Amino acid sequence: MCKVIAIANQKGGVGKTTTAGNLGIGLAGKGKKVLLIDADPQGSLTLSLGYSNPDSMEYTFADVLASVITKIEYDPFEGILHHPEGVDLMPGNIELSGIESTLVTVLVSREQIFKKYISRLRDRYDYIIIDCMPSLGMLTVNAFTAADSIIVPVQAAYLSQKGFEQFITTVENIMDINPGLYVEGILMTMVDDRTLNARKVIKEIEKDYGTRFSIFETVIPFSVRAAEISALGKSIFSHDPNGKVSRAYESLTEEVLAHEQN
Ligand SMILES: Nc1ncnc2c1ncn2[C@@H]1O[C@H](COP(=O)(O)OP(=O)(O)OP(=O)(O)O)[C@@H](O)[C@H]1O
Ligand SMILES: [Mg+2]
Repeated sequence: MCKVIAIANQKGGVGKTTTAGNLGIGLAGKGKKVLLIDADPQGSLTLSLGYSNPDSMEYTFADVLASVITKIEYDPFEGILHHPEGVDLMPGNIELSGIESTLVTVLVSREQIFKKYISRLRDRYDYIIIDCMPSLGMLTVNAFTAADSIIVPVQAAYLSQKGFEQFITTVENIMDINPGLYVEGILMTMVDDRTLNARKVIKEIEKDYGTRFSIFETVIPFSVRAAEISALGKSIFSHDPNGKVSRAYESLTEEVLAHEQN
């Protein structure tokens, strides 16, 4: 059984890409077959896994999507890269922004394009993790339509903002076409436990949202060690194996694995 998880929040810089990469590598470390899909025209996930120039890559996610849109026959495994830490990656780059514009003009089933591609990969992987861009445009809507669940990285202040309600409304709308979709968990990221009374904020969030959505027990602490990895092309597990962020992503991995039993 393959599980497709979209990592999403329309707010930028909340730790989506860092979570996609490290959760993916965490799951691969537990023996799972994992494919990461970079669905962001910024190509940050591709970059952070060590592919230093996504925009000059010959074959990327945008090419696959173009084939699906135009109904050209394609090999679903073409272009998939193998990272030394055990995950596969379908890279993404700036060409995805062209796809985003094209999708708007597609008349029928334009939200199903990712799903058509992913359905051809499901029997090869245990987890397919999609790193979404910071917006609720067609690429993100496609990711939600293809996904079984969504993980929402957030910084504490965000939940009290309008943006979060808008996000939830979008998810609820997608449920009309993808009824099984659910929020796997809200993930608190970049928590600075020295300055912020983080625990108090998290308690408040649990009070406000805990009945509607799951909130991961795991909290990802703020650490410069985590900020360093995107330039190094490796995970926090190999960069700082004994550090607090490494332990946190390990614990997030365990939580996600525990959901398999439910
Ligand atoms: N736990 C952490 N501690 C400190 N810095 C972090 C942590 N997690 C991520 N960062 C840094 O914060 C920045 C934003 O993280 P990231 O790219 O994962 O967010 P994002 O939500 O994917 O951003 P975007 O919306 O642009 O796609 C990056 O520079 C990253 O290295
Ligand atoms: Mg990102």
